[in-house]
Amino acid sequence: MSVDPADQIEAGLSAFGVELGARFDAATTEQELRNARAELLGKGGSLTSLLKLMGRVPPERRKELGERVNAAKSGVESAFEGRLLALRAAARRADLEGPALDLTMPGRVPAPRGHMHPVTRVRFEILDVFRSLGFEVAWGPEIDLEQNNFTRLAFPPDHPATDMQDSFWVRVAGAPPDSRALLRTHTSTVQIREMLQHPPPLARVSGGAVFRRDDDVTHSPMFHQVEGFLVDEGVSFAQLKGVLTAFAERFYGPGTGVRFRPSYFPFVEPGAEVDVSCVFCRAGEASRAACRVCKGTGWLEILGCGMIHPRVLEHCGVDPERWTGFAFGMGVERVAMLRYGIPDIRLLFENDPRFLVQF
Ligand code: PHE
Repeated sequence: MSVDPADQIEAGLSAFGVELGARFDAATTEQELRNARAELLGKGGSLTSLLKLMGRVPPERRKELGERVNAAKSGVESAFEGRLLALRAAARRADLEGPALDLTMPGRVPAPRGHMHPVTRVRFEILDVFRSLGFEVAWGPEIDLEQNNFTRLAFPPDHPATDMQDSFWVRVAGAPPDSRALLRTHTSTVQIREMLQHPPPLARVSGGAVFRRDDDVTHSPMFHQVEGFLVDEGVSFAQLKGVLTAFAERFYGPGTGVRFRPSYFPFVEPGAEVDVSCVFCRAGEASRAACRVCKGTGWLEILGCGMIHPRVLEHCGVDPERWTGFAFGMGVERVAMLRYGIPDIRLLFENDPRFLVQF
């Protein structure tokens, strides 16, 4: 005897109302709740099988039964949603009210400690030496105007020296049309900026990144310099020698030899390059002839310097009849490489921890 599908649906619907609340309330996790919903509404779920019977219901009962089945279905959905929200709220509450997670508890593996990058450390050490000699630390921006980087430093337009420092030019929004901007090629910009802002006497030292279109084992397109200068009445080359000799002794140790060789920079007259006696063969680590760092010469070049050119003083509104001054600039990476015996400048910027832990 076949059961009337309409009766079957009736029976199913009444059983169903009871089942529904109990099942959803029994679920204590989101997964259990979803499983319960699937048993009702999934393929072969009990409500789904009632829906399948609809096709066999006599037409006069279809409308009324159909509405009741659909109502049951939306009842399932809203009961499901309600229970879902309640479960999530309960989980959140348990989380908030439960024991707090102690984020300060030390891990089982101690976290490795970082330290200053060798270039930063050497830069600070150099600045410290000059500070101890009475220089005040100044700062300048890494993007500057052509006037501060070249023109006021007496580089004539198209002078080959501007080729020597192949530059990265940048467009600055809102800049006046007659002033080109660039990534500074040296820290000598700080001499100009300080003299334009403060009347002499001045003794300033400044360190930071500079940029040139250079890239090989000893040149990086970004590197660091420390610049110092002093302007006062009656400043002489002898005082420049005294300051740089004191620097060499304090930085490389007492007894470090210092040698001045004439050299050319457009913003100084006279100009010189300074060598210090080779720290490697002096320490007896290698015989002089075999020393790979100084290549057997016994000397290492560390900086450029000179008496500030009267034209540069004039460009900054400083009267060269009354004031004289000296300036010097050195590459921080070079000083760090010489101090630690680092053969390739690129090692300093790859940030490989196996290299950095050695300092
Ligand atoms: N600015 C020069 C350079 O980058 C170094 C220097 C500074 C030379 C001050 C003389 C005086 O090569």
